[in-house]
Amino acid sequence: MRPVAERLLSVREDFPIFQRRPSGKPLIYLDSSSTSQKPAVVIEALAGHLREHNANVHRGVYELAQEADAAYEEARAKVAAFTGAQPQLTIFTKNVTEAINLVAYAWGRAHVGAGDAVLVTQMEHHANIIPWQVLCRERGANLRYLEVDERGELSLQALEDELARGDVRLVAFTHVSNVLGTINPVAEITGRARAAGALTLVDGAQAVPQMPVDVGELGADFYAWTGHKALGPTGVGVLHGRREILEQMEPFLTGGDMIASVDFQTATWNELPWKFEAGTPMIAEAVGLGVAVEYLSALGMEHVREHERELTAQMLQELSALPGVRILGPPEAESRGGLVAFTLEGIHPHDVAELVSREGVCIRAGHHCAQPLMRCLHLGATARASVGVYNEPSDVEALVAALHGAREVFALDGARQGGAA
Ligand SMILES: Cc1ncc(COP(=O)(O)O)c(C=O)c1O
Repeated sequence: MRPVAERLLSVREDFPIFQRRPSGKPLIYLDSSSTSQKPAVVIEALAGHLREHNANVHRGVYELAQEADAAYEEARAKVAAFTGAQPQLTIFTKNVTEAINLVAYAWGRAHVGAGDAVLVTQMEHHANIIPWQVLCRERGANLRYLEVDERGELSLQALEDELARGDVRLVAFTHVSNVLGTINPVAEITGRARAAGALTLVDGAQAVPQMPVDVGELGADFYAWTGHKALGPTGVGVLHGRREILEQMEPFLTGGDMIASVDFQTATWNELPWKFEAGTPMIAEAVGLGVAVEYLSALGMEHVREHERELTAQMLQELSALPGVRILGPPEAESRGGLVAFTLEGIHPHDVAELVSREGVCIRAGHHCAQPLMRCLHLGATARASVGVYNEPSDVEALVAALHGAREVFALDGARQGGAA
């Protein structure tokens, strides 16, 4: 194996935000699962597009408008190439939440009926639960959950048992859990679902930013992700779909740009992907995302994964040495993405996050938009540290030092010693 230094990236200087010193301290950003920081090239691409090429798309004949058209469609081509998808089957949405809603409305309303089932997992973000709750309630269908085991993983046998019931129309599941960190065996799940006649939707929000993703190899019918976690701007997400399914689907939102022709009472729909992109899209943001995925590709997604796995292994090792810590999810970095959710006995996760923030360390605390999972774990909240390409081992050390400080504030060592005496 190559030495650790070679397995780590060294790109912090590409990210201008790290020049900031909130409260006079260096910025230790360990909240990339919430949103990533942006490299200068992405910030410049956004500003540069607005400064030099700004015009609406798909409607102007003048030079500026054609530049905007080209920039928007080039961004789509870059994003599609990044995930091994075809541009025509790559739809820009506002975020992954909207991408999942698009499927729940445009596919779900036509294909899920009374007595059918939608199968999700207990480890889903609310974005991959609520659209299915609403759909199932409206259609008289059943929403069932695959259980998460003690390691924080899904059982393929349980999946087989669910599929054998013969009523599952769709299996919707996350590629990487935003709480447990678990990397799910996507191709295994999509293969088994297809064999049972069910479609699959994968929430790739936490996967695309940190590991190689090839939607063709994964075999999902729908694969959705969100740009702002992948070094891109907020306001742009992506839905990849299978051609024959997207072609049959009715539009989700309707209005300008998604039509071929309109009469007083009727209209016909535009071709893919524009059939699903009603109204003026997020042009500059898509351009920014195109540059973000180019930046990630230049680093190499294998290298990005190696970097984040290295830092995750360090987090697992150093956090588990803290007294009273409980770490959620699989114990080894190999099986998980770049995030670690944990609790510290005697300190509420919100206090943990607040106390470490005094040292410039940014982590998340709360239910992480996964309340059903938290119920299964008998927890109200956890702290969560997550890494990105710009993090370094010293960031993890700073977190651990700040957590020791938090324990001192709560006199936990003193309490422990006093109790033992
Ligand atoms: C696994 C997962 N799915 C969905 C989302 C929602 O992302 P967005 O708010 O960009 O739609 C998140 C964001 O935290 C997530 O981690």
